[in-house]
Amino acid sequence: MGRRVLLIVTGGIAAYKVLELIRRGAERGLRFRCVLTRAAQEFVTPLAVASLAGEKVYSDLFSLTDEAEMGHIRLSREADLVVVAPATADMLAKMAGGLADDLASTLLLATDKPVLVAPAMNPCMWQHPATQRNVERLRGDGIRFVGPEEGDMACGETGPGRMAEPEAILAAIESLLGPGPLAGLRALVTSGPTHEPIDPVRYIANRSSGRQGHAIARALAEAGAAVTLVSGPVALPDPPGVRTVRVTTAREMLEACEAALPVDVAVCAAAVCDWRPERPAEDKLKKREGKGPPLLELTENPDILRRLAVRGEHRPRLVIGFAAETGSLLEHAREKRRRKGCDWILANDVGAGSAVFGGTRNRVLLLRDGEEPESWPEMDKQELARRLVAEIARAFGREPA
Ligand code: CTP
Repeated sequence: MGRRVLLIVTGGIAAYKVLELIRRGAERGLRFRCVLTRAAQEFVTPLAVASLAGEKVYSDLFSLTDEAEMGHIRLSREADLVVVAPATADMLAKMAGGLADDLASTLLLATDKPVLVAPAMNPCMWQHPATQRNVERLRGDGIRFVGPEEGDMACGETGPGRMAEPEAILAAIESLLGPGPLAGLRALVTSGPTHEPIDPVRYIANRSSGRQGHAIARALAEAGAAVTLVSGPVALPDPPGVRTVRVTTAREMLEACEAALPVDVAVCAAAVCDWRPERPAEDKLKKREGKGPPLLELTENPDILRRLAVRGEHRPRLVIGFAAETGSLLEHAREKRRRKGCDWILANDVGAGSAVFGGTRNRVLLLRDGEEPESWPEMDKQELARRLVAEIARAFGREPA
């Protein structure tokens, strides 16, 4: 089973706790897609939820843009588990009655996945026969409950009705989903370009956006691995649940990678600059009338992939590289895998017109020792990341999600 949670937030003061729930859950490899009812937005902002979840938040049943992006039926089914937290008395009543008058209640009626509910309300509302009747009916429908707990309430009263703490909700989620296939493994991913300074304002770089590397880090975390992402300068947010170390140059990237060892698997997706200016100028280089442009003396950067692949102590059990080529893909990739000493290489054509560098889609050829090259169809970089992670899980003898 996967680790994707559709989190429905309804309107109660406990909604503020979902930020903590998402943050801690992401650290444990859960991926949240969130829906906020109108009332929930009075307590927590879609922006705060989206920032922590790393995904767009949905709220409106009749939004044509939302429906075009993701129909409500698909939204209700793409998750592995639906969680309602906090669940108000009103939402429990709607669920028990099978109402579907907004996006949240419609998703709950349309889903074919297990549903976990964390109620939160005033003690009298919780103990009211109508609510208790609804809870009984929902239990009978197979809905699971976590909490509510007893204690002091935001409304000043004491009794049962306080939403379960994020840790307790996470424990309930994990007992329903089981651990991810890569639970207990450590992973290292490099991503993005590096910038190699020429002077304080100029640098050598490349067109890498970091999308593929970031997607791999995220997919590894979703599969339950403890992930360190070492990223060059990119315009992407840090993936949720991933320890991200931001660096600028190739040498800094190498240092951060070595500091992250030991790991079980390393994926080098960064487009590291092969060379750097030997002596970056301390002051901005001036245009010198009549003297022509300055000559840049370059020196070689460390090859991070190779360093990881050939080390004796703490060599990751699986080292995976990319081969960005503009021609003779298979031939160059084979040679590169040998030269770098890595176990697998994903070769992609980055020639003019391929739109791989900086784009959202990718097409690769997977080369493994002793196996025929495997050609994967063009797909979204996130999908490619998940497929790669499924292969990694298999290589470690784990059942992929
Ligand atoms: N790589 C690395 N450190 C470098 C250069 C490359 O870790 N200094 C890694 C990349 O992350 C990628 C693989 O090596 O996984 C291949 O990168 P690529 O740019 O295709 O190859 P190069 O080593 O630069 O070789 P060439 O320029 O001959 O294609």
